[in-house]
Amino acid sequence: MEKYRINGGRALRGEVEISGAKNAAVAIIPAALLVEGVCRIENIPQISDTDMLLTILAELGAKVSYINKSTIEIDCTHARYQDAPYDLMRKIRASYYLIGSMLGRFGSAKTTMPGGCNFGVRPIDQHIKGMTALGATIDVKNGFIYADAAGGRLRGARIYLDKVSVGATMNIMMAAVLASGRTIIENAAREPHIVDLANFLNSMGADVRGAGTDTIKVNGVDKLHGGSYSIIPDQIEAGTYMVAAAATGGEVLITNVIPKHLECISAKLRETGTIVQEYEDSVLVKGASNLRRVNIKTMPYPGFPTDMQPQMGALLCLARGTSVITEGIYDNRFKYVNELRKMGAEIQVDGRIAIIEGGRRLTGAKVLACDLRAGAAMVIAGLCAAGVTEVEDIHFIERGYENFVGKLQALGADIEMVDVSETVELGDKIISLG
Ligand code: UD1
Repeated sequence: MEKYRINGGRALRGEVEISGAKNAAVAIIPAALLVEGVCRIENIPQISDTDMLLTILAELGAKVSYINKSTIEIDCTHARYQDAPYDLMRKIRASYYLIGSMLGRFGSAKTTMPGGCNFGVRPIDQHIKGMTALGATIDVKNGFIYADAAGGRLRGARIYLDKVSVGATMNIMMAAVLASGRTIIENAAREPHIVDLANFLNSMGADVRGAGTDTIKVNGVDKLHGGSYSIIPDQIEAGTYMVAAAATGGEVLITNVIPKHLECISAKLRETGTIVQEYEDSVLVKGASNLRRVNIKTMPYPGFPTDMQPQMGALLCLARGTSVITEGIYDNRFKYVNELRKMGAEIQVDGRIAIIEGGRRLTGAKVLACDLRAGAAMVIAGLCAAGVTEVEDIHFIERGYENFVGKLQALGADIEMVDVSETVELGDKIISLG
């Protein structure tokens, strides 16, 4: 077991290249199951979530080959319906995409209830509503989801989502590409990774229109063929480095990004006084000497992303004045606040609202990564804090950030991955962690 040890107080400087989008990759890998042929996929992030999905696909009979560290070929020509590694499925949220892709390809699916970060109840009723409308019979029992398409093939339908759901939109889209007839998804989510999945499917012969708007139309086809596709850069990874640069008062050029996808984050950072300059495929972030308070409300795209909320929470501990964060997506996404309090942050939480009394100097402490983005927030706090911060449970962070430690070190951060049993001096106490 490992943890991050951070010696805070150094401004980040230099250039960092963003990897492929996690939330696009974790949909596109299962979607490759729909393709009878070789999918060459570039810009795959090297993170544990993608590794687990590739292992699951290989167990279903896919041939997976690495061309280089970020390019893979997946050949699902000989994939077959069978039991998959359920222990892996339980660990990741995105395993729900196997319902759509297996149903589309085999007419049947058996998956576990999805895992992933715990932000309170995360139902999948809209996924089930969509699959049922497409003609599948869904049975949830003993922690498993069993799905069967009547007559072995799904049929197109009109589906109105009661909640704007990224996962349900992508899952239904996937299931619909090989269905007979036309599917219309209304009140669809509009995140960049939804457009990316549609582009991937279309480049393999699907007919998906309207992705990026709230109405997506899928005209079913009989078969998908192989092809090449490059995944978009990760909006949230880029946003995390932007916030880290701003919080440490540094200057960082963040490359391989689509600035349009970052507008909501850039706008909020500018409100804090941070300078954000956009170029064609990069953004330059220059930290302000005095950060200003801001209010944030998380919303579906193009609103401010919930996946950037904890990182901004860490930054706002430093900004002068009182900031209010309203979490608009999840019931319980402020668990990281307790960890920030250990570092001297003053934050009150009432349900979905956090009130941050900023202008504090954070001090190093031993903290936990409560989930993926909460973990990133603790790293940002540690980079700004006086003294040593240790972040444990980093397996959450490794799920979504490629080479986090290496990229931060290259920007001048004093961060390393060490064994949890190592002893460290925190503040004026020697603590044995063995
Ligand atoms: C995806 C992302 C996650 C991000 C979230 C919102 C992946 C693997 N994960 O999660 O990083 O935080 O989008 O941008 O891409 N809901 C229902 N019923 C459903 C589905 C969702 O009530 O069937 C609710 C959820 O509890 C939540 C809201 O709808 O309150 C949005 O969830 P959704 O967009 O589906 O998030 P995920 O796909 O789980």
